[in-house]
Amino acid sequence: MGHVPVLLDEVLEALDPRDGETYVDGTFGGGGYALRVLAAADCALYGIDRDFDAMTRAEALAGQHPKLTPLLGRFGEMDELLSTAGVTAVQGVMLDIGVSSFQIDEGERGFSFMRDGPLDMRMGQTGPSAADVVNHMSVGDLITIFRQLGEERQAKRIASAIVTRRSAEPFKTTLDLAQCIEDAVGGRRGKKTHPATLTFQAIRMYVNDELGELARGLAAAERLLAPGGRLVVVTFHSLEDRLVKQFLRERSGAMGGGSRYMPEVEKGPEPSFELKRRKATEPGEAEIKVNPRARSSRLRVAVRTEAPAWAQPVETGNTVPPLKALEAAL
Ligand SMILES: C[S@@+](CC[C@H](N)C(=O)[O-])C[C@H]1O[C@@H](n2cnc3c(N)ncnc32)[C@H](O)[C@@H]1O
Repeated sequence: MGHVPVLLDEVLEALDPRDGETYVDGTFGGGGYALRVLAAADCALYGIDRDFDAMTRAEALAGQHPKLTPLLGRFGEMDELLSTAGVTAVQGVMLDIGVSSFQIDEGERGFSFMRDGPLDMRMGQTGPSAADVVNHMSVGDLITIFRQLGEERQAKRIASAIVTRRSAEPFKTTLDLAQCIEDAVGGRRGKKTHPATLTFQAIRMYVNDELGELARGLAAAERLLAPGGRLVVVTFHSLEDRLVKQFLRERSGAMGGGSRYMPEVEKGPEPSFELKRRKATEPGEAEIKVNPRARSSRLRVAVRTEAPAWAQPVETGNTVPPLKALEAAL
């Protein structure tokens, strides 16, 4: 089965495609958003994805859609990718954060605790894999990752079980890890979600540096968007939505200046974004009914102002060890 795009009508309305404009889809996936945009206006669209399989789909679609240009790479460097294609400003950027159903459903990619496969989880098929994380990182680092990226309350118990088990035999497969976690936390106990859900989410986010990419992607979109350009971001859980919300509040000057205790807060740079709505848009019941995966999705939209992009980097707010340290240690 393919990938069912979430909040599709809302994304289209927010991007507001117009003839002659240029857009970036930073998370091409199955092209669900991209094809709707190309059908809505006579515009150019650059489809970025770090996944080779997604790019193969994009290349095939580009044969039928001459204004679609696939670009393999990370959206955290979208301005550099676009500049190699000769584009220095665009009128819209879409980001649909997370994994696609193509990736989850393919056991060989190792994302799912429901399907057996190698313990991989790398969207870009390079760098350390999920197996490298669970077989090589210290118990303390694993606890930090499971707590901060999975918000897993049983992080300590799960990390200890992983370290004990790997000393006898390293983990190789998804089901092997899922079973170890299930044994460690005492089974499902009538719960709807599998006990490995949050740990798998944390490992996937770590292996793909998903929060770091989101932070870099927001800053790259800020540099690439022309005045009046629309930034449209869909997230799937609170850690990501919090980062987008914080970025847009800061960059739109909505953080408020000064307080009784800190009256002399330095005034920041001019706002680089104008918020379209303060609140995130959530899917309606009808969409959730046909696509339960949409339940936790949130859409945020902002319009680029004339002000220059801010120099301040975007903080992820977590303290997980850098992925590069693991890469160097392997
Ligand atoms: C939720 S899917 C997007 C689905 C798409 N909107 C559609 O309608 O088909 C997310 C996609 O983003 C890609 N992705 C995730 N992080 C990325 C990053 N940092 N750079 C580029 N692509 C990324 C994944 O490989 C995946 O294909």
